[in-house]
Amino acid sequence: MAAVLFLASGLPPQNAGEENARASASLTLRSGRTSPLDLEVGGELAGIPAGATRYLTRDDLLRLPQVTFTVKNDANFTGPTQVSGVPLEELIRRLAAAPDSDMVVAICDDRYRANYPHAYIAEHRPLLVLKVNGQPPSGWPKDAEGHGQDMGPYMVSHPSFLPSFKVSPHGDEAQIPWGVVRLEFRDEKTVFGSIAPRGPHASGEMVQEGYWFARQNCFRCHNRGAEGGTKAGHPWLVLSAWAAASPEYFAAYVRNPQAKNPHAQMPGNPSYSDKIIGALTAYFQTFSCSQQEAGKGKP
Ligand code: HEC
Repeated sequence: MAAVLFLASGLPPQNAGEENARASASLTLRSGRTSPLDLEVGGELAGIPAGATRYLTRDDLLRLPQVTFTVKNDANFTGPTQVSGVPLEELIRRLAAAPDSDMVVAICDDRYRANYPHAYIAEHRPLLVLKVNGQPPSGWPKDAEGHGQDMGPYMVSHPSFLPSFKVSPHGDEAQIPWGVVRLEFRDEKTVFGSIAPRGPHASGEMVQEGYWFARQNCFRCHNRGAEGGTKAGHPWLVLSAWAAASPEYFAAYVRNPQAKNPHAQMPGNPSYSDKIIGALTAYFQTFSCSQQEAGKGKP
């Protein structure tokens, strides 16, 4: 398929008409990869069969309107850092089949996923980062955890992240993946619906609170079927089985995995209160058989 980027003015970039050209640049999606730096896009793309994958080159993305700012509180950087790139909302507007209901799921090379529902995007204005301190990925700092890993080809950052209590009464957590290789434009109800709590206690306050934390934390690495990250390799029902069979082990693992398993790769959540851990346990228990049976006769 033709791989064309239309510039309304017809002027080459770096020209006097560059700003206008950028503002009206429309993307044509490529059907094949041309470089390891290409960004995969998938999900529900406007004008493309659902589920098909397309590619955007780094140059295509650089021709879109760019936003630049200095981040001070992004845990991926050790100090104030200048980043620039394309806002996710801009990509939704240009690429998503249903811009009003679609969310963005950022998928990393290690199968970690970060989820950007509408409310999050409106509140925090996440940016698909193309340059760090003016540099392409080869010049980016290595990961802040000290594993010496490249953070490219793409990452996501925010102008300034403060937890939002508009999005949830519990505030929300910054979603700042690096090693991003693919963006999916997906229906929010389908993605989060896959891990909606089940059974008779599904609408309980505690279960709903647990659902909130599970969505923004656990779902990044633990999957339910085709949805959610597969970095952990332990799917949702395994976690739910632990929550039902041994709430003590489950709680201890969530708080400090290394205390239960010295080789654990899962990051701990030492700041979670007993109430949050209790909510997560109650939420995961709704997927277990005994809870389903307790609700026999109800849908
Ligand atoms: C950054 C990725 C990541 C996130 C986020 C994450 N986990 Fe994990 N989890 C893992 C990995 C990887 C394992 C496999 C064992 C290990 O390396 O710790 C695991 C294992 C587990 C286990 C042990 C399963 C077993 O069979 O022993 C439990 C329980 C668990 N996770 C619960 C959770 C819950 C609940 C959340 C959300 C509060 C969560 N995890 C968030 C990566 C993650």
